[in-house]
Amino acid sequence: MRNKLFFTLVSIFFLQICFANKIEGIASPDGNIYFSVVATGNNATGYKLAYEISYKKKDAIKTSQLGFILKEPSLRLYHFEILSKEVTTVDENWQPVWGEVKTIRNNYNQLVLKLKGQNGILVDLVIRVFNDGVGFRYSFPKQPALNHFIIADELTQFVMTGDHRAFWIPGDYDTNEYAYYTSTLSGVDASGGGFAQEIHAKTFFDKNAVQTPLMMKSKDGLYINIHEAALINYPAMNLVIDKSNFALSSHLVPDAVGNKAYLQAPAATPWRTIIISDKATEILASKLILNLNEPSKIKDVSWVKPQKMVGVWWEMHVGKSSWDYSGGQVGSQQATRVPHGATTANVKKYIDFAAKHDIRGVLVEGWNTGWEDWFGQWKEDVFDFVTPYPDFNVKELQAYAAAKGVKIIMHHETSGSVTNYERWMDTAYRFMNQFGYEAVKTGYVGRIIPRGEHHDGQWMVRHYERVTQKTAERQIMVDMHEPVRPTGLHRTYPNFLACEAARGNEFNAWSVGNPPEHETILAFTRLMGGPMDYTPGIFKIKMNSYNPEKKEQVHTTLAKQLALYVTMFSPLQMAADLPENYEARPDAFQFIKDVAVDWDDSKILEAEPGDYVVISRKAKGSDNWFLGAITDEMARNFTVALSFLDAEKKYVATIYRDADNADWKENPEAYVIEKFLVDSKTALRLKLAPGGGTAVSFMPATSEQVKQFKKYK
Ligand code: NOJ
Ligand code: CA
Repeated sequence: MRNKLFFTLVSIFFLQICFANKIEGIASPDGNIYFSVVATGNNATGYKLAYEISYKKKDAIKTSQLGFILKEPSLRLYHFEILSKEVTTVDENWQPVWGEVKTIRNNYNQLVLKLKGQNGILVDLVIRVFNDGVGFRYSFPKQPALNHFIIADELTQFVMTGDHRAFWIPGDYDTNEYAYYTSTLSGVDASGGGFAQEIHAKTFFDKNAVQTPLMMKSKDGLYINIHEAALINYPAMNLVIDKSNFALSSHLVPDAVGNKAYLQAPAATPWRTIIISDKATEILASKLILNLNEPSKIKDVSWVKPQKMVGVWWEMHVGKSSWDYSGGQVGSQQATRVPHGATTANVKKYIDFAAKHDIRGVLVEGWNTGWEDWFGQWKEDVFDFVTPYPDFNVKELQAYAAAKGVKIIMHHETSGSVTNYERWMDTAYRFMNQFGYEAVKTGYVGRIIPRGEHHDGQWMVRHYERVTQKTAERQIMVDMHEPVRPTGLHRTYPNFLACEAARGNEFNAWSVGNPPEHETILAFTRLMGGPMDYTPGIFKIKMNSYNPEKKEQVHTTLAKQLALYVTMFSPLQMAADLPENYEARPDAFQFIKDVAVDWDDSKILEAEPGDYVVISRKAKGSDNWFLGAITDEMARNFTVALSFLDAEKKYVATIYRDADNADWKENPEAYVIEKFLVDSKTALRLKLAPGGGTAVSFMPATSEQVKQFKKYK
């Protein structure tokens, strides 16, 4: 009898261990990617479910857990009975309102498993396998067993096959404005994030935690990018690394009382996305995240205008002027005083400059009362978003801008006091409609109010969506600073032009800045979720030109600043430097004037995270192409076949390159501009300085120009 019991126990144990058997699976349309649903254990009513992914027949993701722990009702949701399954295929094309390409193919095989878990709770596991990766989500249908519920933890894992190289920033509930670290997964130590003094509101929680989009590369050259798509009404996901087996486990941002998410069936989580390729260029070309977002909810999009902007802005960041009327640089507590930036006269200068160079937007920060008392105090009532300082004349500037065909861009810094902003939002957007503002830049510097909430928690995720919806209703475009990192929602809300949600160029003005590799990593991380308001185009690279005591500098060459307009896609691009710095270099500024912000086509020519990115793009509705090439701290050469050009045409290529002796640190502003005749058979040689770049415009040549310019050799 005892023996029999022993035997039974051993065999149950054995079954549990060996029970990683495949139950279901689905392949990508080209067959390269295979998603398996596996059981890692069983009980009387079903299986403990997990998944695995293979790429070209090799493991890409090892057995990884699925499921949830619910707080109310209090139960575990990872043992499931499979009730039914449904397989479908989609292959369609759609056109984004604006974007990197004119037409996007959405082609996947979908498997939906209808599951029944503890207490009879129904969950659908929805899996879409594309040629470039996988998206899966949990969906809770309307059901008697579950109505309103609270998620204590999501158990989703992504188990890697080895100690991959990772490009990561520390896990955090409040900020993504870190510089990137590069290490193996086992080498991750996020406690360093705590020392990033230049970031005001940050919340460290685990030294093994990192944020998404997380870019990884395996030892045998497989690129894996983990992120999420359609983050709506749910907290953002961080990943905690178990260094013993390289399992990355979901860690959702909690709310003020420690819960993760409050949902009511029917409800669905965001998609968990895994983009996979053996070519880095294909990671950058992926449209998987956009494909997993819903089509545009805005019917009439005629008022959504991709555009460039200048701003009464960089002059505050370099310390020339102040947001604050009384001249304190980050609030009145400071001793040094500088002039107020947003004066009627100064704004007119920027409007003149924008009008002269055909730039649509003029951002004006520091126009409204509150800046004297905004910073770092966790104070609730700071700004009202409608009361200008006495030296900023709203009506006069409205008329002046309108006469010049320019639009002033509104600025709403909330200082993290979101309860206050929520109270003022309607009034503030009405004010914008009344005074001719068509776009707003919002900002969330500081700790969030309601106190205890975080920038990346469910409450704030809902707030950002509310801002996007309310602005859309009023035909206002939006650019958010310090929001949660994007997940492709700009497909659904094309008025959501851009956001910051990473370490922007501004850090170069007043902190240790962004190392030369920064923008090559951003492409593979932050930009996977959507356009960034990075604010490129800085020509005065060293801050000691504003103040001899300053040691800060932009960590690129000037030519690389130009290349960023192509390598970092955004339908809202700032010409961020001061007008006088552009007027001093009209030849280089010409590229910023010419470059497009919306595209018919994009070719990722060369790319390696942390090293380099070379992209060419065809301007929307035009025959002009633009190319951007950027490198990290290493000098690099590329030979680029111009086969993307129209074979029937000759083009004038205007090459904006680093001078031969340029270097981001020693000689960053040295550049050369050359013009040649090229065609689709030309092989263009690019020579990038350390921390440098090259920008090229290709415009169809007139017969005059064919005679005028030398053929490229
Ligand atoms: C931080 C934003 O990123 C920056 O662009 C803005 O100027 C300041 N906050 C003030 O709102
Ligand atoms: Ca910021």
